[in-house]
Amino acid sequence: MAEKTITYKNESITVFWKPEICMHAAKCVGGSPSVFDPKKKPWVNVNAESAEKIMATIDLCPSRALSYIKEGKQEEENNTEPVEISLMKNGPILVNGPFCVKDADGNTIKEGKKAAFCRCGGSSNKPFCDGTHKSIGFEG
Ligand code: FES
Repeated sequence: MAEKTITYKNESITVFWKPEICMHAAKCVGGSPSVFDPKKKPWVNVNAESAEKIMATIDLCPSRALSYIKEGKQEEENNTEPVEISLMKNGPILVNGPFCVKDADGNTIKEGKKAAFCRCGGSSNKPFCDGTHKSIGFEG
């Protein structure tokens, strides 16, 4: 499954956004409102704050729709920690740690380090959350 990726960059950081897996948790908007403003076009302004602040905010993104590269290095995560799986209240199953999702034939459809999996059954991008749980009033 090829996901559309939109890139925003300056000399310090490149930010990637995958709208198809965004679950609209708004951690980015809350963490760095001058960088992530859905009312503006483009909605990401990487010049509005330091790369360090932007990276800290992106680290809060539960779906991993946002990611970054700084100074040519891919974001590093601590792989010695166990994979954490948690339930978001009235929302998806959050996975924080290396994972691989395979289809019924054993083909890899996604590898990553963070993801949000649909728990409400309403996503148009199963098995991933697409934010539909909010509009259908999922409780759980
Ligand atoms: S849990 Fe988010 S779309 Fe189902």
